[in-house]
Amino acid sequence: LPADAFFRANLPVGLTFDDVSLATLYSEILPKDAETSTALSDALRLQIPIISSDMDTVTESRMAIAMALNGGLGLIHYNMPPKEQIKEVARVKRHIHGLIQDPITVTPDQLIGDVLAMIESKRFAFSTFPVLDAEGHLVGLLSGNVVKERYKAKPVTDVMTPRAQLITENEAAVAKDPIKAADSFFSTHVGVNKMLVVDGADRLRGLVTISDVEKITSETKSRRKPARDASFRLVVGAALSPVRKSDGSLDREKILNHVGHLVDEHVDAIAVSTAHGHTAGVGDVVKLVHGAFPQVTLIAGNVTSGNGVTYLAECGAHAIKIGQGPGSICTTRMVAGVGIPQLTALYVASLAAKTAGVKLIADGGIVKSGDIVKALTLADAVICGGLLAGCREAPGEIMEISGKVYKQYRGMGSLSAMKAGSAARYGHDRNDNTRKVAAEGIEALKEVSGSVDDVLGNLIGGVQSGMGYLGAKNLPALRANARYVRVTSAGRKEAEPHDVIEVSTRKN
Ligand code: XMP
Repeated sequence: LPADAFFRANLPVGLTFDDVSLATLYSEILPKDAETSTALSDALRLQIPIISSDMDTVTESRMAIAMALNGGLGLIHYNMPPKEQIKEVARVKRHIHGLIQDPITVTPDQLIGDVLAMIESKRFAFSTFPVLDAEGHLVGLLSGNVVKERYKAKPVTDVMTPRAQLITENEAAVAKDPIKAADSFFSTHVGVNKMLVVDGADRLRGLVTISDVEKITSETKSRRKPARDASFRLVVGAALSPVRKSDGSLDREKILNHVGHLVDEHVDAIAVSTAHGHTAGVGDVVKLVHGAFPQVTLIAGNVTSGNGVTYLAECGAHAIKIGQGPGSICTTRMVAGVGIPQLTALYVASLAAKTAGVKLIADGGIVKSGDIVKALTLADAVICGGLLAGCREAPGEIMEISGKVYKQYRGMGSLSAMKAGSAARYGHDRNDNTRKVAAEGIEALKEVSGSVDDVLGNLIGGVQSGMGYLGAKNLPALRANARYVRVTSAGRKEAEPHDVIEVSTRKN
C-alpha cells in the first residue's frame, strides 16, 4: 500500500523499521545511477542523506570532516566549553582536503635528541617537521635525513633547511582546489615532497605531502563528492544547548553570543537538540536564533507528532528531528513510558512537514542500510549515532577486551554525559543535587568498525540498492514510489540469513 493507505490502516499501532518491508517496482534504474543528494534547507544541500549525531562519543571535528568529505554532515556536540565548540567548527571549515592543518612542528632551539625522543614516544611514522618560532612563523624545515642519533646534541636550527631555501605556497592560492594546486606544485618543484602552506604573515597554515596527494588523486574517481558551502568549505553543524539562567529563564545573551561566534566561523547549521522539542523552551530558542540569524539552517527537535513539527516550523526551524526513544542507547521509552515507534512517528510527522514546507530528519534506531531506505521514504535525511560510534574518526580511545577492540558509546541522557554537560537536553539541571536525576540513556561499547569512508560506503551502497529495487532515480522518487507491507515475525525471520551457518561478516 502507499504510505497514506498503509499507515492510516495501521493507526494507532506504532510501527518501526523491522515491522515493514518495501515492495519492489518495475525499474530502469541501476543502483550505481541512483542519486542520493538531499537538502536540509534552501541553503544547505548534502550529497548523501546521512548526518552524524551530535553526541560526545560520535561527532567532533574529525568525524565532521570525514562526514562532509563523504557528502554528509556532522553535528558537533555541545558537551564541551563553548569556545572549544567554536574551535571544532573552525577546524572543519578550515579543513582543506589533503592538507594537514595542525602539522606536528618543532622549535629552532629543540635538540635533535628531543625530536628523536618525541618520534619514539608518539610513535610517529614520519621524521620531517616544519620549524616554527614562538609566533608560529615558519623559520625552516627539519628533514628526516638529519634527524639522526649522530646529531642528537645539535639544536634544530643548526641542521634545518632555513626559510630562505624553502619553497612555499600561499593559503589563498591553494584554498579553491588544494589537491590540484599541490599536484601542480609537486610537478613543478621536482624533488620537493612537502608543500608548506603559509598565510600572508608567513605563519604556517598547513602541509601537504606528495604521498597523500598521490593517494587522494588515485582515490578521487571512486570517492563520493564532498558536501561544501558556496565558498568551497566543508559543511558542518553545531548543536546548541538551551542555556538557562539560575532563575530558569533563557539566557538569550549567552545563546546569541555563542551562535554569533559560530556564524563568524561560517557554521552551516545549528541544531537545537533536546529530548522534547514540542515545548515553549525549545520554541523560544528556535525563534531567538532564527530571528537573529535567518541565513543559518536551523535544525530542531526532537518531536514525534504532527503538531510538534508544525510548532517548530512556525518558530522558524528548517528541518525537524524526529525520534523519541528509538536510539540504540536510549531508555526514554522505558524510563518515561513515552515515545512512538519510529516509522509511524515519521509518517505522522511527514504529513505536517508537507503542509509546513519543512524537512524531516529521522533520528535514531538505524542499525542497517535497509532502515535508512525505509526512513528516507518519509524523511529527507537520517541521523546515525551507534552506526558511526565505532569508527576511528569518532572521539574516544580504543580499548581492548578479550582480544576484541571497542570504543565507548554513551547516550547524551546517560548519567555520565549529563554530568559532562548535556543535562539541559533532558530538562534537568546538572548542578541540581536536590533530587535524583533520571537517566534516559546508557553507557555502552561499540566494536571498532573501521573508517567512516568504509561504513558510509556500505550504507550508501545499500541505499542505492533499495532505490534501484523501487525504480527511484533520486530521493523524491523513492518517497513517491514507496509501497509498504507489514511483516510478521515469521517474515522477519525469513529476511535474515537462516538455516545456514554464517561464515562471513555482514557489513550493513
Ligand atoms: P542510534 O540508534 O543511532 O541513536 O544510536 C542515536 C540518537 O539517539 C538519541 N539519543 C538519546 N536518546 N537517551 C535517549 O532517549 C539518550 O541518552 C540519548 N542519547 C542520544 C539522539 O537523538 C541520537 O541522535
